[in-house]
Amino acid sequence: MKYVVIGAAGQLGRDLCPRLPGEVIPLGRPQADLTTPDVLRQTLTEMKPDVVINCAAYNFVDKAESDPSAAFAVNAWGVRDLARICADLPATLVHYSTDYVFGLDPERQTPYRETAVPGPVSAYGLSKLCGEYVVRTFCPRHFVIRTCGLYGVWGSGGKGGNFVETMLRVASQGKPLRVVGDQHCTPTYTVDLAQATLALLSTQHYGLYHLTNEGSCTWYEFAAAIFAEAGVAANLTAITSAEYGAPARRPPYSVLSAEAYRSLGLPALRPWREALKAYLQERRQRSETR
Ligand SMILES: NC(=O)c1ccc[n+]([C@@H]2O[C@H](COP(=O)([O-])OP(=O)(O)OC[C@H]3O[C@@H](n4cnc5c(N)ncnc54)[C@H](OP(=O)(O)O)[C@@H]3O)[C@@H](O)[C@H]2O)c1
Repeated sequence: MKYVVIGAAGQLGRDLCPRLPGEVIPLGRPQADLTTPDVLRQTLTEMKPDVVINCAAYNFVDKAESDPSAAFAVNAWGVRDLARICADLPATLVHYSTDYVFGLDPERQTPYRETAVPGPVSAYGLSKLCGEYVVRTFCPRHFVIRTCGLYGVWGSGGKGGNFVETMLRVASQGKPLRVVGDQHCTPTYTVDLAQATLALLSTQHYGLYHLTNEGSCTWYEFAAAIFAEAGVAANLTAITSAEYGAPARRPPYSVLSAEAYRSLGLPALRPWREALKAYLQERRQRSETR
């Protein structure tokens, strides 16, 4: 089996590549840019992969509000061209989407199943939803995987670092932290998502899936757990989304239920707090070996 991973330099891409069985060709943006489809087609046609895994995305949620065309160029039109290329090869396409395709329902308190009707409240969420639709339209052999709140030791590519690292860095500087306590989601460790992706791929049951660690928390509760597990004292306060005032609206509740994944008999991912402990341990081991 031959795999090409696009966006291989991002946090998920870096955790996925070493875990894939068979031949793996990791491609960063210089080798595989989603906004240059002719070059991408030529590259992939020469490589003849069985499976293309797209970890690349425009992930700047707030910037997308003022520059939606940049988000759509990558997350919608770039993904559309990739889906067409994969259909022509032919290759299976694995594509990642987001919990931010939900959010219109302010009363929501139960996890969203794959069958729930999406309703994004941000330009980023809309661009990712568009990406889902074009994959499903153009590439019959696809896995579209919605996930949430990713963190991995490689940090989030273009954003530099991830939520866990940001919390620990700011706390180490002795600065106060104000974190939103009214957005419920499920932080997800990229290692766990990478392993679950492999399990899913092996089934060849194509379709739309939700994959996150188990359980849910607010970003404030996640921050508090980070400090408790890391043994770090922090000046942490819960604030509302309105007080935080980010340019992009975010769902107050975007917990995903992995119904479709579990229906294949695959084991649920571990609870988010256990995953956080594993992340902190991996982080410690890496700093000791440096
Ligand atoms: N991070 C989260 O919390 C989160 C939550 C839900 C879903 N997701 C989804 O999960 C997937 C993986 O996310 P991640 O956190 O691993 O992302 P990431 O670390 O930000 O990596 C994204 C990668 O995509 C690359 N990229 C950007 N524009 C590109 C283009 N035009 N062509 C090719 N590559 C391009 C980036 O390269 P540069 O570094 O050069 O920009 C970066 O290496 C994405 O689909 C994302 O939307 C993420």
